[in-house]
Amino acid sequence: MIPPIVSSVSQTREQLDRVRRDGKRIGLVPTMGALHAGHASLIRRARQECDFVVVSIFVNPLQFGPSEDYQRYPRPLEKDAAICAENGVDLIFAPETTDMYASPQMTFVEATHITDHLCGAFRPGHFRGVATVVLKLFNIVQPDFAYFGEKDYQQLCLIRRMVEDFNLRLTIVPVPTYREPDGLAMSSRNVYLSPAERAAAPALYRALTLARERIAGGETNAATIKATAMNVLTAEPLIRIQYLEIVDPSDVQPVAAVTGPVRIAAAIFIGKTRLIDNVSAG
Ligand code: PAJ
Repeated sequence: MIPPIVSSVSQTREQLDRVRRDGKRIGLVPTMGALHAGHASLIRRARQECDFVVVSIFVNPLQFGPSEDYQRYPRPLEKDAAICAENGVDLIFAPETTDMYASPQMTFVEATHITDHLCGAFRPGHFRGVATVVLKLFNIVQPDFAYFGEKDYQQLCLIRRMVEDFNLRLTIVPVPTYREPDGLAMSSRNVYLSPAERAAAPALYRALTLARERIAGGETNAATIKATAMNVLTAEPLIRIQYLEIVDPSDVQPVAAVTGPVRIAAAIFIGKTRLIDNVSAG
């Protein structure tokens, strides 16, 4: 059964107040829609752990740069509702931009340190937009649990940190990256890829796993490990590397030597499409 799709902030609050009064545990899966199997894995996890599952669908203008894909970002609401139905979602919160930002937003959540590197260095304002909208979603839905994919590793770290820093009363649950059989991480942006670009895209995961293997084999020099992974990417003429970094998994700061657990993260362009991925190692 297709779950109710509620666009009004006040109606969502009212419905969820009733759910909370019944003593039910609320799980929130924040998304921008264009749902795929990766999102579905978050929803299924929420379904296992919560009594009432809310999926928010909102393409948040605040987190897109002026030359990014806000306008052309896919918005297949009917298909999304069907995926939510298949996975047992209880309510879809799909606000209008005019409702989420009813009066122009004048206060923002701005992180330091944790957003200095990786995507934060290349997408000015992006994480401010993410943290701000996620805090709004948390305040509207007031979930007990919220589910975030490891695919967007820096985002996950940022949200965890925001919850800690602002004493928010919810638990953030990380969910492993869901991949295509050839290793490509599922992403709403994969639909932009031409067949030739799609064929080149798995090199990203191959490069990261090769780096992980070098670490497992005892290599500790970050520059050497990065060079190995870069070689895989530069061998693909359709790929342009934006960054490839080995970072501390707790604060996403680059490391020069691998002396414990790390995260290897990269962003590439294939044609106009930007893809990110990361793996754990060490
Ligand atoms: P979106 O890109 O739609 O992703 C929604 C959630 O799904 C995020 O937590 C993301 O990490 C997770 N996800 C995406 N692809 C995944 C995959 N292949 N495996 C596992 N999880 C995956 O991330 C956003 O939206 C927005 O920034 C948002 C948090 C909703 C704020 O606007």
